[in-house]
Amino acid sequence: METSEIRRRFLQYFEDRGHTVVPSAPLPSPDPNLLFNVAGMAQFVPYFVGQQTPPYARATSVQKCVRTLDIEEVGKTTRHGTFFQMNGNFSFGDYFKEDAVKFAWELVTKPQNEGGYGFDESVLYASVYYEDDEAIDIWKRVAGLPDDRIVRLGMKDNFWSMGIPGPCGPCSEILIDRGPEFGADRDWEAGDRYLEFWNLVFMQNIRGEGGGKDGYEILGELPKKNIDTGLGLERVAYLLQGVDNMYEIDEIYPVIEKASELSGRKYGAEHEDDVRFRVVADHVRSALMLIGDGVTPGNEQGGYVLRRLLRRAIRSMRLLGYEDPSLVELLPVSLEQMKKSYPELVTDFGRISQVAYAEEEAFRRTLTAGTTIFDVAVRDTKASGAHQLEGAKAFQLHDTYGFPIDLTVEMAAEQGLNVDTEGFRSLMKEQRERAKADARAKKAGHADTSGYRELREKGVTEFTGYQELSSDSEVRGLLREGAVAPFAEQGETVEVVLEKTPFYAESGGQIADEGLILGDGLKLKVLDVQRPVKGLIVHKVEIVEGVLRPGANVQAAVDHEWRVSACQAHSGTHVVHAALRQVLGPNALQSGSYNKPGYLRLDFAWSSALDAATRSEIEEVANLAVRKDLPVSAQYMTLPEARDWGALALFGETYDEQVRVVEIGGPWSRELCGGTHVKHSSQVGAVTVTGESSVGAGVRRIEAFVGMEALHYLGRERALVRLLSENLKARPEELPAKVADLAERLRVAEKELERMRAAQVLEAAAELAKDPKDVFGVQYVGHRAPDGVNGGDLRKLALDVRGRMPNDKPVVVAVLSVNDGKPGVVIALNDLAREWRLKAGDLVRIAAEKLGGRGGGKDDVAQGGGTDAAGADDALSAVEHAIGHQVTG
Ligand code: ALA
Repeated sequence: METSEIRRRFLQYFEDRGHTVVPSAPLPSPDPNLLFNVAGMAQFVPYFVGQQTPPYARATSVQKCVRTLDIEEVGKTTRHGTFFQMNGNFSFGDYFKEDAVKFAWELVTKPQNEGGYGFDESVLYASVYYEDDEAIDIWKRVAGLPDDRIVRLGMKDNFWSMGIPGPCGPCSEILIDRGPEFGADRDWEAGDRYLEFWNLVFMQNIRGEGGGKDGYEILGELPKKNIDTGLGLERVAYLLQGVDNMYEIDEIYPVIEKASELSGRKYGAEHEDDVRFRVVADHVRSALMLIGDGVTPGNEQGGYVLRRLLRRAIRSMRLLGYEDPSLVELLPVSLEQMKKSYPELVTDFGRISQVAYAEEEAFRRTLTAGTTIFDVAVRDTKASGAHQLEGAKAFQLHDTYGFPIDLTVEMAAEQGLNVDTEGFRSLMKEQRERAKADARAKKAGHADTSGYRELREKGVTEFTGYQELSSDSEVRGLLREGAVAPFAEQGETVEVVLEKTPFYAESGGQIADEGLILGDGLKLKVLDVQRPVKGLIVHKVEIVEGVLRPGANVQAAVDHEWRVSACQAHSGTHVVHAALRQVLGPNALQSGSYNKPGYLRLDFAWSSALDAATRSEIEEVANLAVRKDLPVSAQYMTLPEARDWGALALFGETYDEQVRVVEIGGPWSRELCGGTHVKHSSQVGAVTVTGESSVGAGVRRIEAFVGMEALHYLGRERALVRLLSENLKARPEELPAKVADLAERLRVAEKELERMRAAQVLEAAAELAKDPKDVFGVQYVGHRAPDGVNGGDLRKLALDVRGRMPNDKPVVVAVLSVNDGKPGVVIALNDLAREWRLKAGDLVRIAAEKLGGRGGGKDDVAQGGGTDAAGADDALSAVEHAIGHQVTG
């Protein structure tokens, strides 16, 4: 049975039994303690903990998940995949254990021609939390399982949580016995023979901090008893498709086949290659899904995970012997499979592939750059006579150039060297510990949200800011440092929650409103506005006057000027986005934005820099749209309706059932957006694009000023041009030619100056040759030339001086100059000096030591330099000293 069919049957089965089908939440987790969603229940946490009332009592979903804790294990064992899908059914205080078991058992065992999965009952087992007698009773009654096919396990196996504080509960799993070839009888621990594939969690508790699967405390009961189940879609797929592991299912295997075709190597022949094939197939699919959900490669958090996945896949292809760009071959194969369940990937593929291919390009450049560093490291190692590349070098290659250690080891082996992997690992460990400490520090800094939730229980804050800028309201409560407080006094900075407010809380790229909250003898200055928990708008205020207490009647008033400018900037962002897409095409999709009064910036998927003409065209399209005075309107609809309408949503955002669609000029610009906007596009005023830059592989950033700020910006530019025009005594339109002409003349003059300086330096040769110092019979000229003489001229000078000196005595000429802050030295000897056992190379080394550098060369002429100009005079005396030492010693 195809994976997409297993998925479809699941949703159908539960829909037929009164469950609302809920789309998967995007992969990035809304919980700051998790990078990605790791279970189907993630998006329902507020319902389980009673923070929100669910709009349905039963739900079902197939959640996209990514777990990367075991990334190094992928492919080595056959049980670890990074991306996977979890089919789930959920009850929010509706049915509990008995129905959960009944549903699961029926779907699993129902024959395939009747819509079920058709598993053979006789090989199925159930595990239960060891003290859950009720569950045991249900498995016997409902599923007819005999005692010896029900197993009691401890907290580690049969108590489930997300691994972080939140809802949890005892669970019960359905296991399948895959037969004696997979392990010993009744060995539940090993996990290969008795494979669990459906976890039924009886979600009834709330847990605290703590590590591991059983190292935390149960803090109490949830308000209601719930059900959360998770059926591993990939596991069911490989069981039903009769293959050994998840890498061989229909959604993944074609990538292995393609990789095999490209590399000419066979899957199933060598363990090492098999691991590589699996890494490629797993990671390519994960990357496709992650980019699909708006993640872009970067150096932190989720972006870093994606980068690692892509790089590991590319690298594995190289280790399989395929050196050409590989994603362009593999990603479309993965798309072919995944589009059956995720048709949106097809429409997004332009953007997705652009991001992925750009990352591969960047990695290929990294490999090239890293390889140079690697070659140098190999040369140095060999030169020092060692056979081992230092751990620190391997670490640098890994840390700075993204070279995985196995790549370094393999490349070193080709050069006959091994690598100090111990040293490497201990540096890695140090780094990991640093990162952990950072993460802990960050976690500790997290605001505890319990105070917010306490206020949220009194009701949602009504947002009135779409209709009015000033609202009469009442203080619902206040918080001091996160804790609910009874009052606060003049001079304090606290957070305040009102019954309703026109203040816009920062979101969707738009920054918070500014303004005042006024009451009887009370004046609060609003510093920031946020929505820390859903439904609650929190104002951070400074109490300018009076005492703030809950229940006070107030008037909340947004600064009018501020809001007008904020609306201009936000509508301007939509206008620029639409203009970008009109000029560059639909792949230029926004991936993030920020706007504040007068200014906007927008990040979008695009892999190359925009040239000046394209930038002007975008600016032109944007300003024409402004001039057309297009109407701006907002309306509410369901997410599917909005999609049908072609409204653009931001990847990685979670949207409510009802979404707000903002239009500018009808279909020209349609975006899901909760922000505040102008009424007509002309109110945006002018739009001037001020910059365009890269913010990562495949993502560009465009910046612009709008409204009065745009005019101010142009004004500043005009003033600049006037100033230049005055100083250069040229009309503005003549400036480019004038500046080019000046630059050319400057270049010619500098060249001439250089030539003259060199001539001057060489002129000194005759003088210097006349005045050597006698050092125990050696005629020594030690001369510091003026600064700025380059190495070539220095050499000429040294040879010239030597040539002018008599040949019947030993001669040593040392000349030195500091050029661009860096001292250089040249030493020349005549034949007689060499007969006296003096060597230019040795003398230069002595001089260079004083200059903090190195040098060397032949016996008659040698050259060197360093970084420490302060040692220049010392260097010349050291040479003199060394001559004396050599001649007398
Ligand atoms: N949330 C449960 C799990 O992930 C079903 O196993």
